[in-house]
Amino acid sequence: MAVVAGNWKMHMGPAETEAFFREFGVPGAGGGHEYVVFPPALSLARAVASLPAGSPVRLGVQNVHWEESGAFTGEISVSMAREAGATFVLVGHSERRHVFGETDDEVARKVRAVQDHGLTPVVCVGETLDERRAGRVDEVILRQLDAALAGLGDDPGRFMVAYEPVWAIGTGETATPDDAQAAHGTLRERLAAQLGPERARGVPILYGGSVKPSNAGELTARDDVDGVLVGGASLDPVSFAAIAAACR
Ligand code: 13P
Repeated sequence: MAVVAGNWKMHMGPAETEAFFREFGVPGAGGGHEYVVFPPALSLARAVASLPAGSPVRLGVQNVHWEESGAFTGEISVSMAREAGATFVLVGHSERRHVFGETDDEVARKVRAVQDHGLTPVVCVGETLDERRAGRVDEVILRQLDAALAGLGDDPGRFMVAYEPVWAIGTGETATPDDAQAAHGTLRERLAAQLGPERARGVPILYGGSVKPSNAGELTARDDVDGVLVGGASLDPVSFAAIAAACR
């Protein structure tokens, strides 16, 4: 059993969203996975309307603002996302950090706002290629995790972490299962130090970065890889279903 999540990024308008869910249907009981799909916010209502009865798929948004409302042109609030049908929110995706300049402090505020409204944040962390080459993987991902945990406060509710090495996103290059396990193990240790070992075990840590049907099995076979966050290969219902079928 794994968490199988799809981040559609800036793909899939309402009509394509409807077509996706019509074809994806209701995934079989085999695997008992938890499914989460993050369509563009504009397609969320159509996703809700298109989910077949009995579908276990949950929906989320890819970004929110931490304020409840106000003069923030182009932003959406957590309560708007919730009203439209989101139960999950991606926070601190590498594209938000590196393309749009999102800071650790902003990630902390967003994580707090998401939890205050009862939604589940999926906190994304990951190093660039330069940082990996400089041997700074642990330093970077722990800094990012610590900032998010600071936003969650003393008694965090449910949340997930996604380890997405920046150099593996959209490049076809995937972290080896050993590299993924090493980073996930580092994150789990820090979670255990902050929350205690039992609660840390209950925090799903997903791997993201060029996940495909051919590598999802070996990645999720590793102890601390509890699921996948899939970009490009989640846009096609056939490959998303094949990834789910491969996940352990
Ligand atoms: P790809 O699967 O396209 O590499 O994207 C990964 C990702 O960024 C998911 O959030």
